[in-house]
Amino acid sequence: MALDRLYGHLPGHDAWLDEVSRQVRGWAARRRPELRALDGARGGSAAWLQAPRQIGYSFYVDRFAGDLPGLIRRLPYLRELGVTYAHPLPLLRARDGDSDGGFAVADFRNVEPALGTVADLAALADALHREGMALILDVVCNHTAAEHAWAKAARAGDPTFRDYYHVIRTRAEVEALEADLIDVFPGTAPGSFTWSPELDGWVWTTFHDYQWDLNYANPAVFAEMLDVLLFLADLGVDGFRLDSTAFLWKRAGTASRNEPECHLILQAWRALVSMVAPSVVFKAEAIERMETVLPFFGADAAPECDIAYSNGVMAALWASLGLERAGPMRDLLAEASEKPARATWLNYVRCHDDLIWSALSPHVSAADQRRVSGFFSGAEPGSYAAGAPFQTLGEGVPSTNGMAADLCGVGRDPKGLDRLMLLYSVCFAIDGLPAIYMGDEIALPNNHALEDRPLLSVDGRWLHRPRMDWAAAERRGSSQAASRMFRHLQTLAGLRAATPAFRGDLPALPVGRPPESVLSFSRGGPDGVVCAANFSARSVTTTAAELGAPSGWLDLITGEVGDGEVMLAPYQARWLAERR
Ligand code: GLC
Repeated sequence: MALDRLYGHLPGHDAWLDEVSRQVRGWAARRRPELRALDGARGGSAAWLQAPRQIGYSFYVDRFAGDLPGLIRRLPYLRELGVTYAHPLPLLRARDGDSDGGFAVADFRNVEPALGTVADLAALADALHREGMALILDVVCNHTAAEHAWAKAARAGDPTFRDYYHVIRTRAEVEALEADLIDVFPGTAPGSFTWSPELDGWVWTTFHDYQWDLNYANPAVFAEMLDVLLFLADLGVDGFRLDSTAFLWKRAGTASRNEPECHLILQAWRALVSMVAPSVVFKAEAIERMETVLPFFGADAAPECDIAYSNGVMAALWASLGLERAGPMRDLLAEASEKPARATWLNYVRCHDDLIWSALSPHVSAADQRRVSGFFSGAEPGSYAAGAPFQTLGEGVPSTNGMAADLCGVGRDPKGLDRLMLLYSVCFAIDGLPAIYMGDEIALPNNHALEDRPLLSVDGRWLHRPRMDWAAAERRGSSQAASRMFRHLQTLAGLRAATPAFRGDLPALPVGRPPESVLSFSRGGPDGVVCAANFSARSVTTTAAELGAPSGWLDLITGEVGDGEVMLAPYQARWLAERR
């Protein structure tokens, strides 16, 4: 069992296990009848994620709706768009001042006061459930804010809490550890240790100096965070985005990334949370190469996460667009299909973080990674994109910031919107649960708000964290870019919901021998759908046979039909089914 492997060598292990088991039984006994009913209706498992109707939406509560009551009032908008899975970015009480967008949590059992209260959070969960939607929350399990009560107690000299963190005594030890680590924020927060005079030592801080990494070699930390998960599940939260799962375990002499114990921790949390809330899902945020992400699903006998960010496929979408070549997408899709059937992918075009190109290794050459990095940063002559370079990780190339609309050239280039529609058409067709990043549904541009300048000057990722433009959203009935995009996503969501071939457990498999710029993959086997996507600025005439599609075809998106020949306009994606 995972907990024995993690902590079995420690004195008092059996008594500690008894204590954990009491803790879990306590929460299980308290689970509210309506949540038990929901677990039952979902078949007591994470399988509900696989339904083709599931569509995610990720957003900052304040930027989207002001606060939690405001968010509840906006649910009809999400329902109209087809959303079923709401992922508000971190909303638990953060430290004051800079908090890495809420990822520096000062109190896991309270809500950020400007957003509302714990009661508002429970009300949000209830409101979503009434709409048939789910609530996924970030649990920043790798670190706490330096202002969290545990960190404060550690600084006040309490040895129990000092042991909740990694405190290194000497500069020599720090230097030895640093030699193997890769900076996550080399530009904005270089180094992985922060000196604390009160602790007379260096605290391990993988991210910013105010984000103190938790010490999971200490079983008390495991149990504390388990209790946080169960507390949130008790409020009605349907799933957790487990932040920075690759970093949970530290080992001197390694990069302290993806160590085997990270997986044991997830297996143990998974098993214990399932005993209380069997339909609550775990989402891995492991922004790694595909081969390193796949293990976060765990084995069938020892499951870990039910869903994981498909960041390699996401980067491949952009690489295929920038290179006008379907190869990157084809290769990454083939690798992504190796996931277990019980788990699924979280597919996305953009999120609140920078676009990291190294996720494309080893499928896309370093030279091509450099090309797309420069292209989407707008640095290349003739580029339609208006992103910005962020920072260079390890040996890689600069990552890229920017809203999808600006990366696609919406508003600057007549084909900009077609590109954005293409990316979402593919994202909604590959296997998994597609998530819309707030604002993409109305082609919202980069954030240049004056009041956000101070944030932007510290962290370039705020370029793609704008406020929702409700005036543009209100005009979604008219014929501008915003309304075309909104209607496109509605169409895709509706088609998905009505088409069993889009079930998340049916892999997206590259098919046919299409021209170089065209990606062609099938969903759901011979009776399913073939998605054909043209990543180039030129129209392509090909055949159903080359695409691996039925000869007498119906394009579910446009309603067009054809025999044999298939024309794809620049940046067009078609969802081809057999014409009956
Ligand atoms: C995750 C978040 C990112 C944050 C980091 C540290 O990667 O997505 O926004 O900066 O964790 O918490």
